Amino acid sequence: MTGVEVVETVEGLRSRLDAERATGRRVGLVPTMGFLHAGHASLIDAAAADNDVTVVSVFVNPLQFASDEDLADYPRDPEADMEVCWLHGADLVFAPSVAQMYPEPGVPDIEVGDLASSFEGASRPTHFGGVARAVSRLFDIVGTCRTYFGEKDFQQLAVVRQMVADYNIPVEVVGCPTVREHDGLALSSRNAYLTAAERREAPVLYRALMVGAAAVAGGETNPDTVSMLMAEMVGSATTGELDYAAVIDPDTFEAPPRIARAGVRLLVACRFGRARLIDNMAAVPA
Ligand code: PAJ
Repeated sequence: MTGVEVVETVEGLRSRLDAERATGRRVGLVPTMGFLHAGHASLIDAAAADNDVTVVSVFVNPLQFASDEDLADYPRDPEADMEVCWLHGADLVFAPSVAQMYPEPGVPDIEVGDLASSFEGASRPTHFGGVARAVSRLFDIVGTCRTYFGEKDFQQLAVVRQMVADYNIPVEVVGCPTVREHDGLALSSRNAYLTAAERREAPVLYRALMVGAAAVAGGETNPDTVSMLMAEMVGSATTGELDYAAVIDPDTFEAPPRIARAGVRLLVACRFGRARLIDNMAAVPA
C-alpha cells in the first residue's frame, strides 16, 4: 500500500490535471514502460523537484515492438513500480489499457523525420513511429507540462524533441543523465534478460565509449578512427554481436567529416543473447 494514486482512464487523468493547473500548479510527466529501476527513479526525482504534481505513466506500448520482439515477455512488476514511484515523490501513476491509449484505429501516423531513420531506426524500422504515437498521445492527455526523458535512449530523446518542435506541442522536454551500475553498465529493464556470463561481459559497451571519449579528448579528430577503436574494444572483449559503434553530430545524427571543438556523441549497440543493449556518451576534445 502506497500513497500514490493510480489513474487508469484518460478522462480521470485529464480532469485531475486540469484541476491542478487551474490552481497554478505545474505538472511533470515521466513516461515509462514500467519495471522501474534507478534510471527511471532519477527521472521521477527530477520531475518531483521541478514541479508541483508528478505523473509517471506506465504503459508497455505494443506499437514500438516489432513482431519478432519481446512484447509478450517484456518484464513487468506493477507493485514494485508503485513503491518506486512513491519513494521518489510521484503523485499519480497513469496506467492505461491499450484501449484507453489507442481508442481509434486509423489515426494518422506521426511524422518522425530523418533523425528516426538511422541507428535504432535502421535496426528497428517501426520503433520510433510507435514511440511517437505513445508519447504524443500521452502529451495530448496530460496537456501542458514538463516531461523527463533519459539520455540513455539518446536517439529517442532527439526524436521526441523534434516531434515537440514540429507539432508545436506545449511541453518542455528535459533530458536527464544516464544512471549506471558500479561497473558502468547502463541500467535498463532489458538487463533482466542477461545470463550471468553475459552480465559480466555487458559493461564492455561502457568501456568502448570510454575508449572513444579518451581518444577524442586526446586529440583524435577522425571519426572513423574513433568508431574503429570502439568496435575493436567490443569485438575483443565479448561474445556479444556488435550492431553499430558510431560517432555522430548530436543535432543531425550524421557522421561529421572531422571532430570539431564542440564535440560529438558516441553511440554503441550490441546484442548479448536475448538482450539488445544500447549506450552513448558525449565526447569533447580536451
Ligand atoms: P522505458 O524503457 O521504460 O524508459 C523510460 C524512460 O527512462 C526513458 O526516458 C529512458 O531513456 C529512461 N531511462 C531508461 N534507462 C535509464 C538509465 N539507465 N538512466 C537514465 N534514464 C533511463 O523509453 C521508454 O520506456 C519508452 O520508449 C517510452 C518513452 C515510455 C514510450 O513508450
